[in-house]
Amino acid sequence: MSHPSKHLLAIEGLEPPHIADLLDLAESYALLNRSGKTQRDLLKGRTLINLFFEDSTRTRTSFELAGKRLGADVINMSVSQSSVNKGETLLDTASTLNAMQCDLLVIRHAQSGAPALLSQKVDAAVINAGDGTHEHPTQALLDALTIRRHKGRLEGLVVAICGDIAHSRVARSNIHLLTTMGSRVRVVGPPTLIPADAARLGVEVFHDMKAGLAGADVVMMLRLQRERMSGGLVPSAREFFRFYGLDAEKLAHAKDDSIVMHPGPMNRGVEIDSAIADHPTRSVIGEQVEMGVACRMAVLDILARRLPRNR
Ligand code: CP
Repeated sequence: MSHPSKHLLAIEGLEPPHIADLLDLAESYALLNRSGKTQRDLLKGRTLINLFFEDSTRTRTSFELAGKRLGADVINMSVSQSSVNKGETLLDTASTLNAMQCDLLVIRHAQSGAPALLSQKVDAAVINAGDGTHEHPTQALLDALTIRRHKGRLEGLVVAICGDIAHSRVARSNIHLLTTMGSRVRVVGPPTLIPADAARLGVEVFHDMKAGLAGADVVMMLRLQRERMSGGLVPSAREFFRFYGLDAEKLAHAKDDSIVMHPGPMNRGVEIDSAIADHPTRSVIGEQVEMGVACRMAVLDILARRLPRNR
């Protein structure tokens, strides 16, 4: 079982064997979770702190569940009730948490690079739970695990990532992971929402949904991240849906057995039609959430193996 670092700050830089090891371990945790069993001795005596400077439902809750299922003491720090509100800096918060000898620190922050900065200041293993527009590595792992469970492989698959690519850390992590594992990745969206240097990331760029979805094995929809847009990059939600929202007509261009994904939270009627989001056979959105717990258990497990025994 190999992992190249004490931390998990990004997918970029991981090699295929590192990713495969994480996915294999996560698969075993997915089976354990479905059996209703736990492994509460694995992180017994370890402390995990969830430090979320941005809102979250799925990621924060699944890290909490993952930590508890492995026996860790889990603390959820509510930034809105912390001394950050009194002007404390990220680094002072970090040194305070460090003095409490936390073992695993999960951080979400609006600034790209904040987890990497923190990792230089604390003794704990740091896990990036989403930083600005940079990366969301555990989201890419859970997406890959979900795809692998349905398609049996990642290599050679055509994956269309659609919508607001420019502001999406989910897209960036998925592009790194899927291209590293041999998938053919397309990004599909209006020119205003696709980074000018997208092709440099090894993807094909499409501005037309029907062309971008043609023959795709996986259709991954993304949320319009209005909170990160500095101006009006889309005319209106209605118009965006007309050209880039996933409905039955557009999905018909993908393969008949293609799966539909969305990291959540979803804006129904903006990037995805409800009938597709809730489709009983094509949508795997619920399974993505389930795999999120398994992947986070795998990440905590792998990183805990490198921690010193008696901190
Ligand atoms: N996909 C995702 O990161 O969801 P949350 O913002 O709810 O954590």
